[in-house]
Amino acid sequence: MLRAENIHKTYILGRSLLPVLRGVTVEIKRGEFVSITGASGGGKSTLLHVMSGLDVPQRGQVYVNNVEMFEPEGVRRIPEGREGSFVEAASIATAGVPRAATKSAKVSSPDLRLIEGRRNAMRNTSFGFVFQFYHLLPEFDVLENVLLPAMVGRSAGQWLENRRLTESRARELLLRVGLGDRLRHRPNELSGGERQRVAIARALVNNPTILFADEPTGNLDSRTGRDIFNLLKELNRAGQTIVMVTHDRELSVEADRSIHLVDGRLDV
Ligand SMILES: Nc1ncnc2c1ncn2[C@@H]1O[C@H](COP(=O)(O)OP(=O)(O)O)[C@@H](O)[C@H]1O
Ligand SMILES: [Mg+2]
Repeated sequence: MLRAENIHKTYILGRSLLPVLRGVTVEIKRGEFVSITGASGGGKSTLLHVMSGLDVPQRGQVYVNNVEMFEPEGVRRIPEGREGSFVEAASIATAGVPRAATKSAKVSSPDLRLIEGRRNAMRNTSFGFVFQFYHLLPEFDVLENVLLPAMVGRSAGQWLENRRLTESRARELLLRVGLGDRLRHRPNELSGGERQRVAIARALVNNPTILFADEPTGNLDSRTGRDIFNLLKELNRAGQTIVMVTHDRELSVEADRSIHLVDGRLDV
């Protein structure tokens, strides 16, 4: 379903180079629950961002159902410094609106534009994202937060046409994560665990082929973290493919498969 092949990612900060991934190959099969572990600063988030098209590697390719996600290496544009992945990750989570990979990006060839468009579409409609700090929009209520990714990329007409269906899906998801009675609450009226449940419902609203979760339990006490993890397991048993970054060993051993990153390579 997804194959990341020989991924090399180096962050460039001024004149200094920080190699983070040095030839990582990972394959995710439909229905799997894969965890990614490793030391803090070891490149787990970077790998997740590359696999989900939030960040662009210098070398290597990601295939989603055998379709390339990135431009050929020679013409690839790499985001500089910190503005790449982090900002973008946050914007995806909140409004689902992707920023261009780089501000200065000028894609000339139609083929390249096609690939970039496809990558944006994959992020919006094929992937769901859950982050450590939820990234909910504070001024919107729970139901509205969950509906946001479903509004992105649709015309007003399309949105109105599908509104009922989408809203009933959002309500159903919120029931499923145990928040059926909190639809009109604002994020700041919820506990951390409840906020993460909203984020999970939001990540599922477009029915993603893969749910990516970056330390989804990292900001929660261990018991609440366990509840969230159990919810992810339940979703996986119902068929959802999940890739989760965690540094909680207890949780990672319960995944179908655990990928361990050491010095930018897989420890096998
Ligand atoms: N956008 C970025 N720009 C520059 N350096 C980054 C960026 N993102 C991460 N890094 C650096 O790359 C290394 C790996 O980061 P990360 O993938 O976030 O690790 P982990 O998630 O395993 O803690 C860290 O040293 C981090 O500071
Ligand atoms: Mg991280």
